[in-house]
Amino acid sequence: MNTYLEQRKFVVPEVIVGYESSLLIGQYLKHFGAKKAMIVTDKGITAQKWFPQILASIKTAGLNFIIFDDVSSNPKDFEAMLGAELFLAEDCDSIVAIGGGSPMDCAKCISIVSTNGGHVLDYVGVDEIRLPGPPLLCIPTTAGTAADVSQFAIITDTHEHIKKAIISKKVVPDLALIDPQPLMTMDPYLTACTGMDALTHGIEAYVSSAAGALTDVHALKAIETVYHALPKAVLPERSLEVMHDMMMGSLHAGFAFSNASLGAVHACAHSLGGTLDLPHGECNSILLERVIDINYDFAKRRYDKIAALMGVTEGDIKAGLIKKISSLREAVGIPELIAFDRPSEEIIDTMTHGALGDPCMVTNPKPLTYEEVRDIYAKLFR
Ligand SMILES: [Fe+2]
Repeated sequence: MNTYLEQRKFVVPEVIVGYESSLLIGQYLKHFGAKKAMIVTDKGITAQKWFPQILASIKTAGLNFIIFDDVSSNPKDFEAMLGAELFLAEDCDSIVAIGGGSPMDCAKCISIVSTNGGHVLDYVGVDEIRLPGPPLLCIPTTAGTAADVSQFAIITDTHEHIKKAIISKKVVPDLALIDPQPLMTMDPYLTACTGMDALTHGIEAYVSSAAGALTDVHALKAIETVYHALPKAVLPERSLEVMHDMMMGSLHAGFAFSNASLGAVHACAHSLGGTLDLPHGECNSILLERVIDINYDFAKRRYDKIAALMGVTEGDIKAGLIKKISSLREAVGIPELIAFDRPSEEIIDTMTHGALGDPCMVTNPKPLTYEEVRDIYAKLFR
């Protein structure tokens, strides 16, 4: 059947886009009937000069809050458990996540455990959560993860050293305040990594076997927007308009992948990033060209459309597309290989098993074999 005739769901939260929209947080907490919010963030965010303005908005609304900032990059299962314990002990009734993907994913996990009990890893997989959590309001401060609109929460299993995906409508936030201002102080390498993550979201959602008419619109808009804005976003003279474009690109990508899911780039990145504690966007960037090389023939028309958005319309389209993506990766300063020596064969085997078992692998246009995934990992290191 034509995929456009298949039934597809499309879930997004309430979204407010615009300059200083983050300062509406107090007003919106009141709308949700909150009395005491837990702010989930990290220590890099609490040091930013705009952070007190967000707290002032909550204070002005007459609401109480506590701050939980014990969240590391690639958030860990025990951090989510600690946060859930604190949420209950402090009698909080709502969560405000401020930051990049790590605080937002951790906030989602705190929300799940504080309501459903048990351990956060009990909810790994698709639709394993019974009860919705407390109101979850997000203020993203990077343009890439889109955890603020997605039904994904990624958490590191510190026992197995692998990132695991929790996918459920129950982790879609209630509100996303999309404000470009925090991006102006973002480190250029973080901008590069998160931007390449957003581009990967758009590409993987567009070629996903679960793509549909609604996700396609957002995926294509995301690819086009991020592809053109990202080289300017990493420059010292970046403008608020460029960072607004990055926010919009990330948002469109989030709408797309939250509903169409992802593919082998993310499946491999979760396993790689969890094992070696590497930035998520860096893993995606290094994997993207290799996965397109394997996938291309299985979603040729869709990859050709992506290539056209990047200006490749004739000749060897596959080679042209990969070249465009590698040129972008180089332009924003992300290396071609992971800057580590190749890990042991045992670790590569473990990562391969992790990637093949990741829910994102299910919607990759080509079913990858053990050997194909293992070969990708084996060639990633310097
Ligand atoms: Fe991602």
